[in-house]
Order: sequence, then structure tokens, then C-alpha cells
Amino acid sequence: MIRLSGVCHQIGQSQILQDISAEIPRGKLTALIGPNGAGKSMLLRLIGRLEPIQTGTISVDDLDVAQTPSARLATHMAVLGQQTAIASRLRLAELVGFGRWPHHQGRPRPQDRQAVDAALNAFDLSSLAERFLDEVSGGQAQRAYLAMTFAQDTDWLLLDEPLNNLDMSHARALMARLSQSVRDSGKSVVVVVHEVNYAAAWANHIVALKNGRISAIGAPSEVLTSAGLSALYDTEIEVTEFRGRTLVLHH
Ligand SMILES: Nc1ncnc2c1ncn2[C@@H]1O[C@H](COP(=O)(O)OP(=O)(O)OP(=O)(O)O)[C@@H](O)[C@H]1O
Ligand SMILES: [Mg+2]
Repeated sequence: MIRLSGVCHQIGQSQILQDISAEIPRGKLTALIGPNGAGKSMLLRLIGRLEPIQTGTISVDDLDVAQTPSARLATHMAVLGQQTAIASRLRLAELVGFGRWPHHQGRPRPQDRQAVDAALNAFDLSSLAERFLDEVSGGQAQRAYLAMTFAQDTDWLLLDEPLNNLDMSHARALMARLSQSVRDSGKSVVVVVHEVNYAAAWANHIVALKNGRISAIGAPSEVLTSAGLSALYDTEIEVTEFRGRTLVLHH
């Protein structure tokens, strides 16, 4: 489990996160939701050690994030940030290959190449493997970043807005793949999503952030209510059911 205890984060005079204490369970698909600027990316960055922890403690299973070397953490947890600034003159296969680094430290073995091929294939990118990143579409680049993260083959996957740029079919395929990784491979996933319907359809646990604080946490049926979501986003939102499935209406 990921355990956050008394986590605060400040930039200049701005309090970005305030006294976050929570547990994110292992073996579940957790959706992190909340309005723009709520602190979702910052929280993920702190868990993933992309940002130093100022106050409080964060542990992932038995690893204290502040004390664990990055190389050790990278074999246990993969983090895909919201902004990716990787050189565009990189072939997709090379990008996905970065995901294997924590396993081979610069000396790829046959199983690393196999893992890269499998990840490219899983994300529908085999035919684009030799293209440069700046020669593919936005959604294809996003899938390449996701393939890199999957190739890392860690117990935990933390993904910040992985659905960005994906069409409906690839978005659904990603959520199904994440759900399957949780169900069949014992992985644990934390995913930031803006389209709450994806959370309703696929998540088994929800964390809602607003103004740097946790405003709700629990099962989808508890958190994804008309009143709860309307207050979270300051917008009228209706939660209903269609053919036995939760449907969030916001337009
Ligand atoms: N480097 C920075 N300097 C100053 N403020 C920052 C910095 N990075 C983030 N912030 C602020 O921290 C707050 C939380 O940002 P964060 O990126 O975590 O939001 P978010 O919930 O991920 O939003 P979004 O849905 O738009 O991605 C915002 O108010 C943002 O303006
Ligand atoms: Mg963000």
C-alpha cells in the first residue's frame, strides 16, 4: 500500500498540498480525480520521488520514498508524468527501451528486448517502432510513453492523465489493460483522470483532491455521487445509471 502521512507541500507562498494523510491500497485500480490545480500531479510527483518531500512521510509497500535510492524505487514503481520532456529525435523503440533501464543498467539482455517488443505490440506500435517521436501523432506518442512505463514491469504504476490524446478505442483499451493488470497480474495502479466516466467504469478506489486537500476517498459508489461530484468540480453533475452501469452526465 502507499501510505501518506501529514504530507504538505509549499511553493513560494502557495500551499500546494495540505496535510494529506491517506492509504492507497495494493491490488486495486485507484483513480485520482479533482479540478485543475487541485494538486493531483504534485501528489503523484511526490510519491514517485520526482519532487523532494518537504513535510510528512510517504511509503510504498515497505519502501520509505525519501530514503530509498531512485534505482531501487524504479524497479518497484513506474511513474508517467503529465509533462514529458524527452528528446524528440528518439525512435519509439528507444524510448520504450528506457523503461528497461532499471532492470539492466545499460546492458540490455534478450529478455529486455523481448519486453520492449511486447510493450510496442501491446500498444499497437510495432509498425512505428523505428519512427522518431516527432514523426508520430500525439496519441501515438502518448502510447509510446505508456509502453515505456509498462515495459518497466513494476508492481506499481502511477500514471498522470494517461488518456490524454487517446481516441475512444485506445482509451478504452488502456483502461481495460490497467484493469487486467490489477486483476490478473497483481499490479497496483494509480491513474489521474479528468473524464469521471472512466473512473466510474474501471476504478475500484477513488481519491478526490480539491485545493490541495483530500475531499473524498473510498469506493466509487461512495465518492461518485451527484452531490459529491458537483461540489468537487463546482459544476452541476448528475450521476445516473444506464443498463446497470454508472453514468456521469456533465453536459
Ligand atoms: N513549479 C510551480 N511553481 C508554482 N506553482 C506551481 C508549480 N507547479 C504547480 N504549481 C501549482 O500547484 C497547484 C497544483 O498543481 P498540480 O499540477 O498538482 O495540479 P493538478 O491537480 O495536477 O491540475 P491539472 O488537472 O490541471 O493537471 C496549482 O495551483 C499549480 O499552479
Ligand atoms: Mg496535473
